[in-house]
Amino acid sequence: MEILKNYNLSKLNTFGVNVEAKFFVEVKTEKDLKELFKMEEFSARGGSASGGKNIPIMFLGGGSNVLFTKDFDGIVVLNKLKGMEVIGEDSENVYIRSMGGEYWNDLVMLAVNSGYWGIENLAFIPGTVGAAPIQNIGAYGLELKDVLFNVETFEIETGKMNKKKIFSKEECELGYRDSIFKNKFKNKYFISAVTLKLSKKPARHATHPDAGGEKKIYPALKDYLEKNKIEIKSPKDISDAVKLIRQSKLPDPKIIGNVGSFFKNVFIEREQLQALQINYPEIPYFDNNGMIKIPAAWLVEQCGWKGKKVGNVGIHEKQALILVNYGGATGAEIFELANKIIESVKEKFGMELVPEVNLI
Ligand code: EPU
Repeated sequence: MEILKNYNLSKLNTFGVNVEAKFFVEVKTEKDLKELFKMEEFSARGGSASGGKNIPIMFLGGGSNVLFTKDFDGIVVLNKLKGMEVIGEDSENVYIRSMGGEYWNDLVMLAVNSGYWGIENLAFIPGTVGAAPIQNIGAYGLELKDVLFNVETFEIETGKMNKKKIFSKEECELGYRDSIFKNKFKNKYFISAVTLKLSKKPARHATHPDAGGEKKIYPALKDYLEKNKIEIKSPKDISDAVKLIRQSKLPDPKIIGNVGSFFKNVFIEREQLQALQINYPEIPYFDNNGMIKIPAAWLVEQCGWKGKKVGNVGIHEKQALILVNYGGATGAEIFELANKIIESVKEKFGMELVPEVNLI
């Protein structure tokens, strides 16, 4: 394990922003991690009382949900812990444990190719397994929350690195693009592994006619399946469809820098929706157990941003939630555009868009 200095991060964030980390290290094993935090410079993070130098720390996976607005004056720890295996099963379920540094989609492919249901709707989401619980990744009517079993972590504070803490699903406090790791425990735990509980039969939440219909099929997926007369026989039928839908709408970060949705969708009360419907009878919304979800993409589009280019940055022409770096954009430039969008949505609709990405 080698600690590098002044390390360029442009290839490690999918926005392709050109920034540096003061220190950088790749951890490939749990032993690496323990060693790292034994080192004097990086050991104590509890402040001066514990003799710590308080060097800021940041854990990075696929870099697909982060916007660096400036150089990082601390240590970036890249999670390269690898390995995926089935650790248990019964007649209905299978438990798959994946190390945090694996690519999320490799785990999805392992599941769908083995015929296990539960994460097929989450195919082709960029990023790593270790990052998935932090924002409770979701797409096409399914969230990690529906299949998560537990999350293995190491606490960063000195002296506790040798102790693994396992968070049950409930302890992760998963919400819409949210978890305890984004709030109370932000940067406090390193996620080393994640275990999922998948189904051998179409899971209740799966997009299969025999699944019990607990969840409605997400409109875009339903339309696609109907239009193309696709009969769902296996989870792979769904992941194939998701791949094509994603490719048709979302820009490939390898070609155009982006981090997927930049903002979260907005939740409002029913009365607020009724008031909005007077001026905007066509406003799209989803009823989530009484709370109304308004697609932030629609709000952004109504403010005239969709497809706009401002210098090196812009808003994708097929999905108004996606900010793109056309090449050479700085993080500050992207952030400035995001703020202009937030202001205009606030002015027109009185709603506050909240970034989904991690702003550094
Ligand atoms: N819409 C517009 N303009 C647009 C795009 C969408 O008005 O340019 C409206 C339409 O009414 C559409 C609705 O927004 O029916 C929903 O659009 P879409 O299905 O594209 O989903 P989204 O709510 O914009 C969310 C996730 C995506 C995920 C898709 C599909 C968030 C913040 N984003 O987007 O996740 O792929 O659903 O399930 O919840 C990500 O998190 O990075 C991400 C890409």
